[in-house]
Amino acid sequence: MSNWLVRGGAVLRGTVPVQGSKNAALPILAATLLVEESIRLLNCPAIRDAENMLRILETLGCTVKREGDALIVDSRTADRFVLPTALSGELRSSIFLLGSVLSRFSEADAPYPGGCVIGNRPIDLHLEGLRRLNAGIEEQGGRIRCTGGSLKGAVVDLSYPSVGATENIMLAACRAKGTTTIRNAACEPEIFDLQQFLCACGFLVRGAGTPTVTIDGVKKGHGASYRIMPDRIAAGTYLVGAAITGGDVTVAGMQPETVDPLLNKLAECGCEVTKNSDSVRVRAKDRIRAVGFTETRPYPGFPTDLQPQLFSLLSRADGTSVLTENVFESRFRHAQELKKMGAKNRILDRTAIITGTDRLHGADVTAHDLRGGAALVLAGLSAEGETQIRFAERIERGYERMDSVIASLCGTIARKEKDIGEEEQA
Ligand code: UD1
Repeated sequence: MSNWLVRGGAVLRGTVPVQGSKNAALPILAATLLVEESIRLLNCPAIRDAENMLRILETLGCTVKREGDALIVDSRTADRFVLPTALSGELRSSIFLLGSVLSRFSEADAPYPGGCVIGNRPIDLHLEGLRRLNAGIEEQGGRIRCTGGSLKGAVVDLSYPSVGATENIMLAACRAKGTTTIRNAACEPEIFDLQQFLCACGFLVRGAGTPTVTIDGVKKGHGASYRIMPDRIAAGTYLVGAAITGGDVTVAGMQPETVDPLLNKLAECGCEVTKNSDSVRVRAKDRIRAVGFTETRPYPGFPTDLQPQLFSLLSRADGTSVLTENVFESRFRHAQELKKMGAKNRILDRTAIITGTDRLHGADVTAHDLRGGAALVLAGLSAEGETQIRFAERIERGYERMDSVIASLCGTIARKEKDIGEEEQA
């Protein structure tokens, strides 16, 4: 277990470049299996989830190396279709490998995926989609076995615009015979990024970013060099950092339009928001104001991955805010942790009623999941005293060197590999 100590009372100021996108990188890494040549990726974030994905690719026989800033993945040597249980269990996105391994080897064997504890995360839409593409799927003893002859293009109607299912079906369809049309596809920017990567490799994909994605199957792709898009959730997290600490932060190298729903909320809270072509500056003015109602929705709605960070901010606001989580059924575990810091909130099913307070105090809290953990860091920076965050390694699943980023903005996070309580007792 890794613990972080967050020093309260910070005012975040300065400019930070944003990391590469976690949610774009993971399916793109899975997609490298579709190409039996070398792939050069730039801006791949140095985060635990990406490292886990790379280890899984190595287990399947791929070669992974770094050349300066670039990550080189070569799947020519890949020769295994069984995903390793322990590594895949830790990484929900290992599910993307089902589509690409199946496409590459006409066979795949995977454990049920792991990931954040944010509620029941079924994979029925992934499996239904693959079945539509002619895959035979058996679920047995905690594993998913996909078999069958070659994949065939089909029309896949998603009953919900699942990000992961859209991406998995895109991957499986690239080398399938014929055309695949995904209807009610998710429209997240990371899906567009996956399409751009696939097209750079010679696959024929169009429509990403709209609810209809079409893939014309081709026999093979080819090697490519590709720059992964900036991470809109990390960018949004640091911008909330400006708002919650009364600071002034510019996030550079980002795509401002991808965080519009958050920027609108920050403006509503009373922050000054300045958008440039590839950067955003957020300057907090007086005390943050409460916002009437916010609900998470698939893109272009307010992202569920920024809900915990907004939750922390609203915990410091003047007045009462209402926040509804529509995407995941159980994504409010940060609420009870924030209460330990003096926040006032009530959860009614999927809705949080948050009554802001002008001071939070440091406490001993637990990061139950990646974004909930980031929300605790933000709250800790704005609190009085020190906050200990347990299981902070969960934050490292998606944030590249968050402690260094916060340090460059004049905040302090110290790492402790051991539990403080354990040390004191020893
Ligand atoms: C992706 C993102 C995650 C983000 C989420 C929603 C990655 C690596 N992760 O996760 O950060 O929070 O999108 O923007 O890109 N569902 C089903 N059946 C399925 C699949 C999903 O019922 O087969 C449900 C889920 O339980 C959830 C909802 O659909 O309630 C959204 O899930 P989905 O869009 O698939 O999210 P992920 O791809 O898991």
